[in-house]
Amino acid sequence: MSRTLAQPFLRRLFKPTPSLTLKRFKSTMEGSSKIKPAARVSGQKQDVWSIINEAAAASPKQPIVNMGQGFFGYNPPDFILNAAKDALDRVECNQYSPTKGRPRLKKAIADAYSPFWGRRIDPETEVTITTGANEGMLSAFMAFIEPGDEVIIFEPFFDQYISNIEMPGGKIVYVPMHPPESGATKTSSAADWTIDFAELEKAITPRTKMIVLNTPHNPVGKVYSRDELQKIGDLCVKNEIIILSDEVYDRLYYVPFTRMATLSPEIEKLTITVGSAGKNFYATGWRVGWLMGPANLIKYVSAAHTRICYSSVSPLQEACAVGFEQAESEGFWDKTITDMKSKMDRFNEIWAELDLPYSEPEGGYFVLVNMKKVKVPADYPFPEHVASRPRDFKLAWFLIQEVGVAAIPPTEFYTDANAHLAEDYVRFAVCKDDGVLEEAKRRLRGLKKYMQ
Ligand SMILES: Cc1ncc(COP(=O)(O)O)c(C=O)c1O
Repeated sequence: MSRTLAQPFLRRLFKPTPSLTLKRFKSTMEGSSKIKPAARVSGQKQDVWSIINEAAAASPKQPIVNMGQGFFGYNPPDFILNAAKDALDRVECNQYSPTKGRPRLKKAIADAYSPFWGRRIDPETEVTITTGANEGMLSAFMAFIEPGDEVIIFEPFFDQYISNIEMPGGKIVYVPMHPPESGATKTSSAADWTIDFAELEKAITPRTKMIVLNTPHNPVGKVYSRDELQKIGDLCVKNEIIILSDEVYDRLYYVPFTRMATLSPEIEKLTITVGSAGKNFYATGWRVGWLMGPANLIKYVSAAHTRICYSSVSPLQEACAVGFEQAESEGFWDKTITDMKSKMDRFNEIWAELDLPYSEPEGGYFVLVNMKKVKVPADYPFPEHVASRPRDFKLAWFLIQEVGVAAIPPTEFYTDANAHLAEDYVRFAVCKDDGVLEEAKRRLRGLKKYMQ
């Protein structure tokens, strides 16, 4: 049927009666109909990203220097960008990839990681490609969590874990990382954020199915020591708990870095390692991630991934394959560490100048700064939704309004019960051009007048 003929016919067919139209309109407007949103997306507090964006839009200091979200202020290296452009010219790269990922990328990842594992990783059964690490983790929870199963996560946590665990009906059990006691007065190492292992052991119940670990850690910058990982791993082996080891910052470490799965064959059997090409290659918008682990775990993750999004972006998988194939010979892995460490050191000079203590990161690209010494005027006009949140939200709002630098309040990554642990800290992302870092430092000097 042609379009012109079809339209009057369809209009007649679907023409609602006036009373039905009115009823539908009223119930939709009142929010009382079946059309109301599911609990998993409704009733959430205003998220940190929209609060920060709103603060940035309202600030007199335009344009804002954005040190908040962890996206890169610069492009992937040319050898990877060119591979993406070339892939777009190839017919097969513009079509569906196999659900578990393109063979070339799986092989490139297996080749790149086998030396760390000390054995050959099987690209067909032990690697699966996902739409960013985030969707990979959602697939892992979808694959193993039944309603009521418990998942342990450490606070502060990457915020997406929460909804990813809750969607399949998982119950989250929180264990806090304890900040250094002298964090408000002295610069310390991110290593000084510690887990109380008695607390962790107490959190384990017969229903604990998974634990999520993040190393190098966002936002703390901690790289878990071999000893700490061994203790966590031993508890998981003893209690048969799957370890989801989120290692998306695995190429950015400034102290020795241990990969959970490499500790022992018993631990490896329970460990799914999470990776992100977005983080590895400065391309967070490409949405290419992967999971590696024992074949009997990975096959269920792939099954969930197939149902969630079928397969992931083809041409960018191809470009990431080239990234892994050539990174070593291009000297990219060494350069990524040197460059990020130099950004970290360059930016953190400002804290010595201001005499504000921070947590010296051991990995990743975030730094937590303790701003207890910054005196926010008691009558400062915060909007209600900021005034009702912990002090770090007020600090972040204040920084945007007064000096024009955006940063993230880390209590967003805590439960209400433990938010007090981080309410004097603010998180900055240093994965920005050096010029941006210098401009941020220049503006942050404006905090001096609030510290007398
Ligand atoms: C700890 C952590 N895990 C996972 C992710 C998500 O990675 P991707 O962008 O590959 O989904 C992020 C992104 O910020 C992160 O910080």
